[in-house]
Amino acid sequence: MPRVFVTRSLPKSVLEPLAEFDVAVHGGEGPVARSRLESEIQSADGLLTMLTDPIDKHLLDLAVRLKVVSQMAVGFDNIDMDECRKRGIAVGYTPGVLTETVADHAFALLGAIVRRLPEGMSEVRSGAWGPWEPFHLAGGDLHGSVLGIVGMGRIGAAIAKRAGGFDMEVLYTSRSSEAPLGRRVGLNELLEASDHVIVAAALTEETRGLIGAEQLAAMKSTAYLVNIARGPLVDTEALVSALNEGEIAGAALDVTDPEPLPADHPLTAHPRCLIVPHLGSASVATHTRMAELAVQNLIAGVNGSALPHPVPDR
Ligand code: GLV
Ligand code: GLV
Repeated sequence: MPRVFVTRSLPKSVLEPLAEFDVAVHGGEGPVARSRLESEIQSADGLLTMLTDPIDKHLLDLAVRLKVVSQMAVGFDNIDMDECRKRGIAVGYTPGVLTETVADHAFALLGAIVRRLPEGMSEVRSGAWGPWEPFHLAGGDLHGSVLGIVGMGRIGAAIAKRAGGFDMEVLYTSRSSEAPLGRRVGLNELLEASDHVIVAAALTEETRGLIGAEQLAAMKSTAYLVNIARGPLVDTEALVSALNEGEIAGAALDVTDPEPLPADHPLTAHPRCLIVPHLGSASVATHTRMAELAVQNLIAGVNGSALPHPVPDR
């Protein structure tokens, strides 16, 4: 009987289709320990992984019968794709099903930071809420603004669609293709011209540190930055300085570098920085669909069939 290892507990109903396999699941709190992963991979035909599991060369060296790594995420920067390819191990991911949920989240973060909701909430909670005052916590506007989308993939396109509802002008950068909505520009033009910038690109060796000191300095001092992609796309120390120096008006981060960010990090308590713990795809319906898709990829891979959703070649 083929053996599969699932690195996080998932709803029983989602795992039901795996009944034909010998299934082991990491059921504890937090990510699976490296030592457990190292031991499980030696006897596994398939792994169902999370973005918190580093699937690197050293780990893959221990695999003797592994046919598939099925990741429950659209991002797969935690997986060494070259090493998987060399070994003929198929890699699956879960695109498409989370696109709209992540785009909703990008707008939730953008609206919250532009209208200074975190500062307003802390005032209410601390008892500092006084009588109404003109210009108190006055922020920017979404409607009629110029939105820059860094990375025009599926999620970028879903963000652009929503921007239309806010009468925004959309600028975007894209690795490959022209998109139906917005105007494709270079990164510098996007940063200089945008009122708000949303980072939605995949993390690769080319995009690591894409938004650094120089890029933040190019943004308008009234502009807001949102990162819903992966933390390392934005240089954390450069972002701290840009906020402190008033080079940008604020930032909303769904992802950070490092992640999690320590509670005493300068960004954590920064009044003009909103941080949530990597919740982009986290609706109940969407996480269920992602888990279902990951299970389908896993089954196909273990059976030696083509995966319904293989990771594309970049
Ligand atoms: C979440 O970050 C994902 O990549 O699906
Ligand atoms: C992910 O779905 C992307 O391509 O943006």
